[in-house]
Formats: sequence, structure tokens, C-alpha cells
Amino acid sequence: MENRTLGIIGGTGWLGRAIAQALLDSGVIGPDRLLISNRSGVSPFEPGVRLLADNQQLVDLSDIVVLSIRPEQFRELQINARGKRVISLMAGVPAASISAATGADAVVRAMPNAAVEIRQSFTPWYCAGNLVECDRQWVQRLFECVGSADEVPDEDCIDYLSALSGTGPAFPAMLQMALTNQAVAAGIPLAIAQRAAQGVVVGGGQMLASRDPRQMIESLMAYRGVTAAALQSMADQGIDCIVGRAVNAGAEVARRGM
Ligand SMILES: NC(=O)c1ccc[n+]([C@@H]2O[C@H](COP(=O)([O-])OP(=O)(O)OC[C@H]3O[C@@H](n4cnc5c(N)ncnc54)[C@H](OP(=O)(O)O)[C@@H]3O)[C@@H](O)[C@H]2O)c1
Repeated sequence: MENRTLGIIGGTGWLGRAIAQALLDSGVIGPDRLLISNRSGVSPFEPGVRLLADNQQLVDLSDIVVLSIRPEQFRELQINARGKRVISLMAGVPAASISAATGADAVVRAMPNAAVEIRQSFTPWYCAGNLVECDRQWVQRLFECVGSADEVPDEDCIDYLSALSGTGPAFPAMLQMALTNQAVAAGIPLAIAQRAAQGVVVGGGQMLASRDPRQMIESLMAYRGVTAAALQSMADQGIDCIVGRAVNAGAEVARRGM
């Protein structure tokens, strides 16, 4: 990443740590250009990466600052980031509040998910304020280190997508649990029910990495058999509405702010 220095406040947490490690592993940023801060003073990184206790010092030494702390921790944070670009990973904290609290020139709101851990996160991002083209490319590259990324046209997309892609493994985990519970209720032994449900979610999910879901459903419906009956039952009970209401419930929390 050329000569930019990146500082990650909260860079030892779940998201911050995974992103920092991916940047280092890919060589996109060298250890001498990466600064991390936290409160505990414990660092999982190689010795070349500086861990700071003072967030303002991190900001002063950085060109771009990532906020990878929780929304409630942000309320206590006191930094002056005037003249800096700030990238916030926080759900439910509007760009205007971040600008007002930090004085940052440009605020990017990005919403990765827990799959940063396996570098398969989808990260939408939105820039409030002016960001030159080379900085836009830099942000895109940063998030491509942990998966794929897209700039979105307005901030509400981030609030909505916080409840969709931001939830990462949550929806598949819920489906897996429901399949397991129903199989057990139908008399299937627990260990077998768990393996069967995991096969559906994990094995099926991997297939969908390279297949179009609509074509997949159409070709399975064409058998007019067991799978078709199950899918039709889901459609008749309004799977789209159930999913829509779930995502909207999450998005409302993000929009209301945390
Ligand atoms: N995890 C997800 O799946 C996910 C998905 C989408 C968005 N997000 C967003 O990402 C943000 C981070 O989430 P996370 O899951 O990575 O949280 P986390 O694991 O709790 O990490 C937070 C980090 O911030 C540090 N920290 C807290 N207060 C600090 C302060 N005042 N100064 C410096 N460091 C401080 C903590 O370390 P110390 O305790 O040592 O200070 C910790 O390393 C959240 O705002 C969340 O909304 C998370």
C-alpha cells in the first residue's frame, strides 16, 4: 500500500486482528507501516508491528485510521483525527457522528463480517466526504485482502447490509440448528441429525460458490420429487417474507444507532 501508514484502533479484536494479519500476509502492508492500539497491551502480532496504548499517538502517526472497536467503546474514545481518513467498521454509528466526534476529513463506513477469519467476507463500504480515487482504490484493496468488497451508493445501504452480509455465519447457523432440531424431533439420533444438517449448510454452501441459486432451485424443482415438495412448502409459507422481516429488524437497529 505504497507509503501509507495504517493505524487500527482495536486491532487485536476479532475483525481488526483478522484484517491486520491478512494485510501483513498478503504483503499489502509491511509491519513497519502498521500500528495497532488496544487497552490491554496484549498483542498477537510479530514484534515489528507496533502496539500502542495511546490512541491519539496512533492517529498522529497514521495516514488512515481504522476504528475496529465496539459502538459502546466508541462513546468513550477521544481522538482528534483532523486531516485524516477514518474507516469505521462499527455497526450502527453514522458517518456524521464519527466526523463530529473525531474531526476526520473523510469517513468510510465499511461492514465486513466474521468470515474475515477465513478471508471470505463480503465487505460493502461507503464514503462520506471527499476521497480521492487512489484512496478509494486503497480502501477496496484493503477489504479484498479478506474477501470481496463493493463501494455502495449511500449510507443506508451499510445499515441494511449490516443486517444481511454483516451477520456472516448467523443465518446459516440458524438454518443448521433448525434442521438439526427438526430431525431430532422426527426421531433421528442427535449425532446423525447434526451431521446431516451440517452437510446441507456447509456442503450446499460450498456448491453455491460456483452455481447460480435460481438455476439450482429450478433444476431441483424439475424432479417434482422430495426436494421439490420441501421447497414448495417453504415458498408457500412465505420464506421471502420471513427473511425480509428478519433483515429489516436488524437494519432498523443499525439505522436507529447503537
Ligand atoms: N464481529 C463481527 O462479526 C462483526 C461484523 C460486522 C461488524 N462488526 C463491528 O466491528 C467492530 C469490532 O467488532 P469485533 O467483533 O472485532 O470486536 P472485539 O473482538 O470486541 O474487538 C474490539 C477490540 O477493541 C479493543 N478496544 C476496546 N476499547 C478500546 C479503546 N478505547 N482503545 C483501543 N482499543 C480498544 C479491544 O481490546 P482491549 O480490550 O485490549 O482494549 C478489542 O481488541 C464492532 O463495532 C462491530 O460492530 C463486527
